[in-house]
Amino acid sequence: MQVAAVAFDRFARLQDDACQERVAAARAALGRRAVILCHHYQRADVYRHADLTGDSLKLSRLAARTDAEYIVFCGVHFMAEVADILSKPDQVSILPDLNAGCSMADMANLSKVERAWRELSEVLDPDQAITPVTYINSAADLKAFCGEHGGIVCTSSNATKILEWSFGQREKVLFFPDQHLGRWSGHKMGIPLEDMPVWDPDEPLGGLAPETIRKARILLWKGHCSVHQMFQVSHVLRWRTQHPDGLVISHPECNFEVCGNSDFVGSTEYIIRTIREAKPGTRWLVGTELNLVNRIAEEFKPDGKIVQFMAPTVCMCSTMARIDPQHLAWTLENLAGGNVVNQIKVPPHEAGLAKIALQRMLDASQPVD
Ligand code: 13P
Ligand code: SF4
Repeated sequence: MQVAAVAFDRFARLQDDACQERVAAARAALGRRAVILCHHYQRADVYRHADLTGDSLKLSRLAARTDAEYIVFCGVHFMAEVADILSKPDQVSILPDLNAGCSMADMANLSKVERAWRELSEVLDPDQAITPVTYINSAADLKAFCGEHGGIVCTSSNATKILEWSFGQREKVLFFPDQHLGRWSGHKMGIPLEDMPVWDPDEPLGGLAPETIRKARILLWKGHCSVHQMFQVSHVLRWRTQHPDGLVISHPECNFEVCGNSDFVGSTEYIIRTIREAKPGTRWLVGTELNLVNRIAEEFKPDGKIVQFMAPTVCMCSTMARIDPQHLAWTLENLAGGNVVNQIKVPPHEAGLAKIALQRMLDASQPVD
């Protein structure tokens, strides 16, 4: 029986513990009609309710595969958009707090990318010479732009493979919005740093000379993650003097020096898998978001593995943390009462084009294990 939608105000002041019980009860009432997908950065009091967890690539594959009527995405806005684009038309993608955005994704927008494309056409024919590649951390209209212009989406776990695909199409790449992921992935392919200049969207012609653009292999959009920019190579070097046998693992959103001084670099799923498969008794320094590091530090303690956080300051994805038990309880109770709240719906034309770019990515990257 449908009851009237309940406003969030009634949940805002609930204690965390009370929310846990209400989440569990609403979850049980919904049964298989709902699936809760959680990104690895999600806070512990939400993560414990996940049906499925993963990095961005794994979550997008899982969203495409589920048959649940409601996909409740405990992540950030672009992830719920991808779930909407890849799921079936009658499925509903939901973000429990609409303020859970990604500050990096906001560093590129359609008007700036279209302007870049126009400005690039003063130097060369971009639709002949450049494959646009958007990191999955971007709005759906940028994925649609890539779909329309022969481009593709990548994630942190397939970026090198996607660059290989892109160079198979055209001689250059415009990579947005994360310069660090683009630089590290290009470097892994053997592209010299001087052939990967930074495109500053706030400068005419990206702040670059026409001959720099003609020579470039990858134009790196001037964007970054505010969480991963906190990790510095000095943190790695100091730790290595204290723990010469220790191992360092970083997310590729960290800067080039941090990645270059790490033993392993990869997505959140890769970081967890690498430490899980490591020998008992190993010690790790991890350059990624704090919720994930705290969780795996606890998980691997019984194996005698010591997992430490790279930065001396707290580096949390504050937007991801907006999905709290209060918002999850509010969302699930409304769904159980027959009311959809916070649906993420990408307009059909945009979704169709974005799906082309996402499908190219899924076809070009390895299936998830
Ligand atoms: P992953 O795809 O590695 O989970 O990364 C997503 C992200 O936003 C990292 O900041
Ligand atoms: Fe975006 Fe950075 Fe948060 Fe990842 S950690 S979701 S890139 S703001």
